[in-house]
Amino acid sequence: PSYEFIKVEKVGEKKNVGLITLNRPKALNALCNGLMTEVSNIIEDFEKDNSVAAIVITGSEKAFAAGADIKEMQNNTYSKCISGNFLSHWNRVADCTKPVIAAVNGYALGGGCELAMMCDIIYAGETAKFGQPEILLGTIPGAGGSQRLPRYVGKSKAMEIVLTGDQVNAVEAEKMGLVSKIFPVGELVSRAIKLGEKIGKNSPLIVSMAKESVNTAYETTLAEGLHFEKRTFHGTFATKDRMEGMTAFVEKRPANFTNE
Ligand code: HXC
Repeated sequence: PSYEFIKVEKVGEKKNVGLITLNRPKALNALCNGLMTEVSNIIEDFEKDNSVAAIVITGSEKAFAAGADIKEMQNNTYSKCISGNFLSHWNRVADCTKPVIAAVNGYALGGGCELAMMCDIIYAGETAKFGQPEILLGTIPGAGGSQRLPRYVGKSKAMEIVLTGDQVNAVEAEKMGLVSKIFPVGELVSRAIKLGEKIGKNSPLIVSMAKESVNTAYETTLAEGLHFEKRTFHGTFATKDRMEGMTAFVEKRPANFTNE
């Protein structure tokens, strides 16, 4: 398929990392409907593609994404938002069963910050700037900014960011736990790909179980989450890859996972 708003490649030594580059430079990768539809479709394709172990989403050096497309939303009405279920398809990224890494250079504002937070791990370039400036436009975050951000950084910092629209830089974002690592701008994407390749050495089946278990921490009470984790852990004992992993350790050889 050909894309208008994104670039899609399979990268890494084994070509097992799906790289999505947001590519709408004139609008600083503002996330118009067409762009997010393309992202949802390629996530769907990468999820079905057994050769893809992990996905990286990135933008340009100037902007990961400057938010939802304000010009597209400007004349929207409440009834159209409701009847069209405005922005519901954005969730496809958060629902992906494979690991998704955001590699953020430049602006990640509004929907751009929300898109990054839908990913499993955020790596930032030194110039990254995160923010939820919706309040300055007379609206509020609509794709997780008021819900995922406090889970990443706690209430006080999330409130400050959401109520003022102030941006936070890469160092602050790392300190508050929004970002897991910072890299020089030019190295960022290759480091994110390396991370995808590293995760890709593990069993894809078990990786998806681990991802689901971590995500459950954000959906449940501790007791329910621990129960889910325990049963999922038990479930790994129904897989060949669990047997292979432990056998390889005992036999002092590398594991050869088969995704079964
Ligand atoms: C539409 C956008 C855009 C956006 C930038 N552009 N952000 N178009 N929607 N979110 C366009 C500009 O209109 C301009 O096009 C071009 O990109 C370059 O932007 P400039 O403003 O000239 O660049 P610069 O001066 O470098 O400033 C960069 C910036 C600024 C600080 C990132 O563009 C900015 O404040 N953008 C809006 C950020 C924002 O409010 N995001 C939240 C959106 S609401 P033209 O054609 O005019 O040259 C949101 C709601 C989410 O995300 C709800 C759920 C998803």
